[in-house]
Amino acid sequence: MSSVVIHGRTFKTKITSSEILKAIGEVADQINVDLKGKKPLFLAVLNGSFMFAADLMKKVNIECEISFVKLASYEGTSSTGTVKQLIGLNEDIKGRTVVIVEDIVDTGVTIEHVWEQLKALGVSEIKIATLLFKPAAYTKTVPIEYAAIVIPNDFIVGYGLDYKGLGRNLEDIYVLDYENDGK
Ligand code: IMP
Ligand code: MG
Repeated sequence: MSSVVIHGRTFKTKITSSEILKAIGEVADQINVDLKGKKPLFLAVLNGSFMFAADLMKKVNIECEISFVKLASYEGTSSTGTVKQLIGLNEDIKGRTVVIVEDIVDTGVTIEHVWEQLKALGVSEIKIATLLFKPAAYTKTVPIEYAAIVIPNDFIVGYGLDYKGLGRNLEDIYVLDYENDGK
């Protein structure tokens, strides 16, 4: 096991690169069976999903497209709180099968926003593929169809995920080392 220090906080290895790739391969196998013939559009949500999207798409062997979107946060009305608006979508997605590709589903607030916006644009079928899923933190009802790795409610970093902007380039996934963190 190795550890890294990011912004003065200590993180230790939690999921190795080979474990990540194995889990992604299993999700891709499932997608290849489930979505064959549907010509799905994979929509990867940047920044966090860039590594997952790349490794997943190498193993998806059905006819498909991939595109990348971002979420821009702005303050909505007091009833809605912060709204996360999907930007960068240029494809006509009406009537299509769309697979949202996310790095992590935590409370589910983000994925629910994406889901609702795609529905409003007339998508006929939405699937969610996420590298990581924290069921203990999840507060929504949107079905998480393809979760490569299910984790407890810990803060993690690496393989696309950041801690205050750093750590996205790490090949393995690290968890905050609560015992040795000293904070
Ligand atoms: P949600 O809206 O609560 O589901 O959170 C989703 C977003 O929070 C993710 O897309 C990540 O950017 C961020 N996030 C949630 N948990 C973690 C974590 O453990 N490490 C790094 N980022 C996280
Ligand atoms: Mg994210």
